[in-house]
Amino acid sequence: MKSYNIAVLPGDGIGPEVMEVALRILDLVGQEFNIKFNCKKESFGGSSIDKYGTPLTEETIRNCKKADSVLLGAVGGPQWENEPHDKKPEQGLLKLRRSLGLYANLRPAKIYSPLLKASSLKPDVIRKADVMVVRELTSGIYFGEPRGMDKKKGWNTLSYTREEVEQISHTAFKLARKRNNLVTSVHKSNVLESSQFWKDVVESVHKEYTDVTLNEMYVDNAAMQLVRDPKQFDVILTQNLFGDILSDISAMITGSLGMLPSASLGSKHSLYEPVHGTAPEIAGKNESNPLAMVASVAMMLDYTFNLPQAAQMIYDAINEVLELGYRTLDISSENTTLVTTSVMRDLILEKCADKSDTIIEMVRMSYEG
Ligand code: NAD
Ligand code: IPM
Ligand code: MN
Repeated sequence: MKSYNIAVLPGDGIGPEVMEVALRILDLVGQEFNIKFNCKKESFGGSSIDKYGTPLTEETIRNCKKADSVLLGAVGGPQWENEPHDKKPEQGLLKLRRSLGLYANLRPAKIYSPLLKASSLKPDVIRKADVMVVRELTSGIYFGEPRGMDKKKGWNTLSYTREEVEQISHTAFKLARKRNNLVTSVHKSNVLESSQFWKDVVESVHKEYTDVTLNEMYVDNAAMQLVRDPKQFDVILTQNLFGDILSDISAMITGSLGMLPSASLGSKHSLYEPVHGTAPEIAGKNESNPLAMVASVAMMLDYTFNLPQAAQMIYDAINEVLELGYRTLDISSENTTLVTTSVMRDLILEKCADKSDTIIEMVRMSYEG
């Protein structure tokens, strides 16, 4: 039997509750595909600050590096807002991404057809939209030096090296080849030197991918175009901060931030997490949507463990449950059935279990146990 080690970082707020759903799904997939997923929980984020005085311990970094992949809920929350800046939970996440060399963040936004009415965008605008934001994740203004603040000012530095832009451009062009052969490079070259540089380097890498069309767009226009007509995009290639913002906007293609998964990839390591945060106002209420987390598991199975059939089984289960009209609060609309996080979990488990008798038996036993 194949066996994989997964470092599990539940994090804060709704992180642990959506992670619980993810682990149940992984368990089920393991049974179906005869694979042992050894999931070991690690301290991370605000809960790690409370326990160890730091959002990311050396031990957590070591264990994430040793694992075959990493699964993350989300970190942060009002409890830790007044921590010194370099001790905040979010800084732990940045340090983890950097330590694992996760330079490519893939955030796919595509509508599940039963959710056409969940979005604040019109059904005709999002029907058939399929956007992949490729966000550079380990450089740019998030990491630039010098950075700091004092009583009189606060400052950050935005810079990119040629190697950094080349690396993420290759990721985007290769991905476009497996999709619709279109990359839109999003920047602000009319104002920022770092963006003019970005634009030039992307264009030079494009020479190796002449079968892929390269478009350019300023980031302010791109934000507007994403809600006006998202169907015009295939792969959006952009820097760290712009990608953070544009991917939250693209969540409206899916109906909710609670539907948007992500993969963070480097040359050695991988990490999967929902795009959303810890949603502190609904944490602990059994209200959160676990599907972004569940779809992040599917991305892990597909990209890291080369199990596209397992990933497809999960996407199909999500679609079927939505087709039956079940919704968590964030995606509910008229004539749908409102369910809690745990009921959504059971529905997805049941749909996955439908695929095999062994799994049905296992779920039954785990419910009885
Ligand atoms: P958020 O993503 O937590 O929430 C934004 C909105 O979306 C809220 O209305 C929330 O209720 C809703 N929402 C998000 N996920 C949902 C889900 N699964 N189901 C239902 N509704 C959902 O963003 P925020 O409020 O700006 O940030 C809250 C905290 O999360 C902050 O501390 C922030 O730094 C942190 N954060 C962490 C990550 C991460 O760890 N990757 C990502 C984003 C934000
Ligand atoms: C995200 C989050 C993070 C980011 C924060 C929590 C550091 O917003 O993953 O989108 O800005 O990258
Ligand atoms: Mn974000």
